[in-house]
Amino acid sequence: MSLNLSAETPAVPDDATDGAWLECIDCGETFAPFADVRYTCDGCDGLLEVRYADLPTFDDFEGRGVWRYADALPLESGVTTQEGATPLYEVPRLEDEIGLEALRIKHEGMNPTGSFKDRGMTVGVAVARELGVDRLACASTGNTSAALAAYGSRGGMETLVLLPAGKVAAGKVAQASLHGARILEVDGNFDACLDIVQELAAEGEAYLLNSLNPFRLEGQKTIGLEILEAFRDDYGAFPDRIVLPVGNAGNTAALYKAFRELLQAGAIDRGDVPKLTGVQAAGAAPMVEAVENGADEVRRWDDVETRATAIRIGNPVNAPKALPGIRETGGTAIAVSDEEITDAQRALAGEGIGVEPASAASVAGLRKLRAEEIVTEDERVACLTTGHLLKDPDAAAAAGADPEPVPATTDGVLEHLAGERLSER
Ligand code: F0G
Repeated sequence: MSLNLSAETPAVPDDATDGAWLECIDCGETFAPFADVRYTCDGCDGLLEVRYADLPTFDDFEGRGVWRYADALPLESGVTTQEGATPLYEVPRLEDEIGLEALRIKHEGMNPTGSFKDRGMTVGVAVARELGVDRLACASTGNTSAALAAYGSRGGMETLVLLPAGKVAAGKVAQASLHGARILEVDGNFDACLDIVQELAAEGEAYLLNSLNPFRLEGQKTIGLEILEAFRDDYGAFPDRIVLPVGNAGNTAALYKAFRELLQAGAIDRGDVPKLTGVQAAGAAPMVEAVENGADEVRRWDDVETRATAIRIGNPVNAPKALPGIRETGGTAIAVSDEEITDAQRALAGEGIGVEPASAASVAGLRKLRAEEIVTEDERVACLTTGHLLKDPDAAAAAGADPEPVPATTDGVLEHLAGERLSER
């Protein structure tokens, strides 16, 4: 089974339910979608994908947000807080500075809990309800835990989150806590947390809602669908390239799947498929290493470090789905330093767009690829910013200006301002 860009529609197996089934991307084994709990192939442990007998075209979409795309999803409705329909901002100064035909910022930080994870959870938690499970769990660098806690509580289910101790931004822990998750702080990195939670899930302790869960990626496909529809409306053409930060490579896999399904439905042509371009922090860049070496597999990095804690990940579990996506669309992957990430975070803030560090990696990577002439000036590009500024208030404060103490009088404030003007001369 290869994940290539072909217009072929799959044969429908007997275990399909309402035209949907699960299929192993390695051996092609198929499974009924909601009969049992499973995350990987029973036979070969390969990653699973949701497949559909009928795939929609743009004409089939109706409404607003993630559930506008219900015809491309395994259920007709979910546990929802009105996720999706995020802004696609124009950034004229940044577009000029980088030198592109068009640059737009798809700000996923504008979702209900402040990250794209909501798109996956609205579907994943609904599937959990369908399966009849009562406890949900995830390992997380923070955003997944915030979204799981919110959607789990909305769906009336218990939630358990495993976080790398001391490496999760304050806003995210606060969210998970207030939404009622049990938070287990693990003395190890994200990859260790994911190893443990996978074992807990295998023992039936909880239903796993990391991006290894194929249903979550179905919801995340809608990022790509929204970008394509908006570009078609605004420019009469789809974007040449989509640049995104990469951690577990779930979004990379999800966007690629969205494009493959549109191609199979005849909604787009092969030449319309945007080049998927992934960006990682230099201290956690196993996907970039694999792309640069033309490797089919990713080597796990045991020691990872970056200020962009959301993507402090050494073992991108969705690499087998995402690497073909980068390769088949003619995209690439690049690593950026923490300084480049902070510079990009400031540049976005200068256009009024507040993002957390991991999000700014996409813009930092685009800047670098443009400087290297790998991205050309005639391109129309969409950059994904995955999480809101307030997720990581400490990083934002460190990247921004310091407050200036002043006396509690108007004269004192005027004097302070005048003094600053004088010192500016
Ligand atoms: N950006 C942000 C803000 C994230 O929180 C994550 C992942 C990514 C990018 C990477 O996305 O995994 O699809 O490549 N955060 C996960 C979490 C790991 O636990 O919140 P990916």
